[in-house]
Amino acid sequence: ENITLDQYLQSAVEVVKDIGPMILKNYNSRSKQIEYKGAIDLVTDTDKAVEEHIIKTLTTKYPHTKILGEESTKDGIYNWGNEPTWVIDPIDGTTNFVHRFPLFCVSIALSINKEIVVACLYAPVLDELFTATKGGGAFLNGEPISVSNVEHLSQSIISTNVGYDRTDKGIEFMLTNFKNILKDNVQALRFSGTAAWEMASVSCGRVDSFYEWGIHPWDIAAASLLITEAGGVVVDPSGGKCDMESRKVLCGNPNIVNKLSKLLIEKPTSN
Ligand code: IPD
Repeated sequence: ENITLDQYLQSAVEVVKDIGPMILKNYNSRSKQIEYKGAIDLVTDTDKAVEEHIIKTLTTKYPHTKILGEESTKDGIYNWGNEPTWVIDPIDGTTNFVHRFPLFCVSIALSINKEIVVACLYAPVLDELFTATKGGGAFLNGEPISVSNVEHLSQSIISTNVGYDRTDKGIEFMLTNFKNILKDNVQALRFSGTAAWEMASVSCGRVDSFYEWGIHPWDIAAASLLITEAGGVVVDPSGGKCDMESRKVLCGNPNIVNKLSKLLIEKPTSN
C-alpha cells in the first residue's frame, strides 16, 4: 500500500484538531492532575490522555507505524528504528500549560529511516498550525513560511530555555553562553518554555535562531523539518551535523546560526 506524505500529514492534522478543544478546556482549569518526573519536571493527566489518543488514532489507521512518544518512554529509554515512526510530544511546554501561560503545543512528526518526513505542530491557544512534508515546503495555517534573512546578531531575536539542570556547573555553563551572545550585542534573548513552538517560530521568521542543551527527539523532530523546509538549518551547536538524540540543537537562519556556533561553548560533562 502506497501512502503519500500528504496523507500521513492529513491524518496528523485531523488528530490535533480533534483533540484541541479538550486541551484548551483542561488548560483553563486550575485543578490539574500533576505528577513529578523530576524535581521540577512535570507531567499532567492531559499530556498522557493526548498522547494515548494520538497513538490510538494513528496506529489504528496505520498499523505498520511505530511510536516514539514522550510519555510512553520509560526512564528516558527508547528504541528509535528505521520503520515509519510517529515521534510525539503531546504537550511541549508542560510547565507553561500547568501555569496557564499560553505558549505550548502538540508536536507530531513521522520519521522513515530515522529521517523526519512529515511535521504537524499545533499551538491551541494561538490557534497556530504549522505543517511540512519533506520536499513540500512549510506552512503556517496554510500559508507558506520562510526563515528570516537578517545578517547580524544586533538585528536578531535568539530563543533558548533554561531547561531542568540546576547544578552549579550547569548554571555556570548556561550563564557563560548568555554572556557570550549578549556581549555580541544580540537584539533580544527569549525563554518561552516550549522548544518545539520556539523552533516553529524560527521557521516562520519571527525568531532568528534557537538553541538548547537538554532537549529530546520528540521536542525537536517536527520543528526541525519545519525549519529545513522553510530554508533554515538545524545543526549541532558546534556547527556540525545535528544528531537528534544528542540532547542539543542549534537552528535558524543560516547567517545567525553560523555566528552563534562560534560563540556557544559545549556543555561540560557532569562527571
Ligand atoms: C520541554 C520544553 C522546554 C525545554 C525542555 C523540554 P516538555 O518539553 O520544550 O521548553 O526547556 O528541554 O523538555 O517536557 O514540556 O514536553
